[in-house]
Amino acid sequence: MINNDANPRFKGGLPDYLIRHVTFRQMQIFEAIVRLGSFTRAAEELFLTQPTVSTQFKKLSDTMELPLLDQSARQFKPTEAGEELYQTIRKIFDSLADLDTRLAELKGLRRGRLRLGVITTAKYFAPEILGDFCRQYPGVDVALKVTNRDRIFQRIHENEDDVYILGQPSEKELGVKSYPFAPNPMVVIAAKDHPLCAESDISLARLVKEPFISREVGSGIRDTAMKMFAAHGLIPNIRMELGSNEAIKHAVVGGLGVALLSLHTLSLEGADGPVDVLDVKGFPIERKWYLVHSKDKELSPIARAFLEFAMTKEAPIRAHMADLLEKFSKRHRRRRAAPKRKT
Ligand code: PGA
Repeated sequence: MINNDANPRFKGGLPDYLIRHVTFRQMQIFEAIVRLGSFTRAAEELFLTQPTVSTQFKKLSDTMELPLLDQSARQFKPTEAGEELYQTIRKIFDSLADLDTRLAELKGLRRGRLRLGVITTAKYFAPEILGDFCRQYPGVDVALKVTNRDRIFQRIHENEDDVYILGQPSEKELGVKSYPFAPNPMVVIAAKDHPLCAESDISLARLVKEPFISREVGSGIRDTAMKMFAAHGLIPNIRMELGSNEAIKHAVVGGLGVALLSLHTLSLEGADGPVDVLDVKGFPIERKWYLVHSKDKELSPIARAFLEFAMTKEAPIRAHMADLLEKFSKRHRRRRAAPKRKT
């Protein structure tokens, strides 16, 4: 058995003498000679002169150090070594043809893989976009990772996904390219029977007197909320920290306090659910989602198609948010117009 490591003719497990001396052109010429049984026809098929075909065939035979064709018959027939070489060339060409098909499929987006990393709160719309995308490109495998802002930043650093959806990334710090996407309005929510639901223009000073349910450290919403209170010299009265928007909504409905969340967290139940949006001065805070990808990584055709596809969903998401806000403010207007009940 040949010990490739000890044999100077083999490098990295590959036969060095073949790689250095056999060209694709020679393989193509030899394949045509054997398949067509003629130097002349091989030259015609490949648009080459007959001397070129003969010279290249001779070089190939010299490299192989064995006769490749039995030229005794009227038609050229491969020798045993020639047949081995012919079969190997066919396999190489078939593999290259397969590669070409796979690449064409990728370019045509019939197959491939998309890894999407989204910040916790983007889970209220990202799966729908992904679902529509998969219907359009059924051969694409998708992986969706949902986690909080700090962990998404970590995934960006470690280059784990193709595209990310998050709020307000710092391009320089993260080494990313970002594209502004749909609105992400921040609202203050309370249980529908909370006394503040009946009030208008609630000041932040009044709001901080209420027990506050906050997202966990590392959450983008928490960060925004804390910065906003700090900018007004206020400290919220945090009663509880929870790692999920849904758990916060339940805590709010359970009367444990008020919370600052994205309006997206109310997208499924709309304005008819058990929580209300409070009429707090300066709210909603207008924020945006961003579609993001690493600057250093070349986007795959699928990732590029996803970015373009997601952008077509911006307008419907924007309209949905505007509609939801309008429903809550209609309710505030109705409540203000209603005569106050005597207690
Ligand atoms: P979060 O981020 O889900 O980590 O709180 C959302 C945001 O930044 O708006």
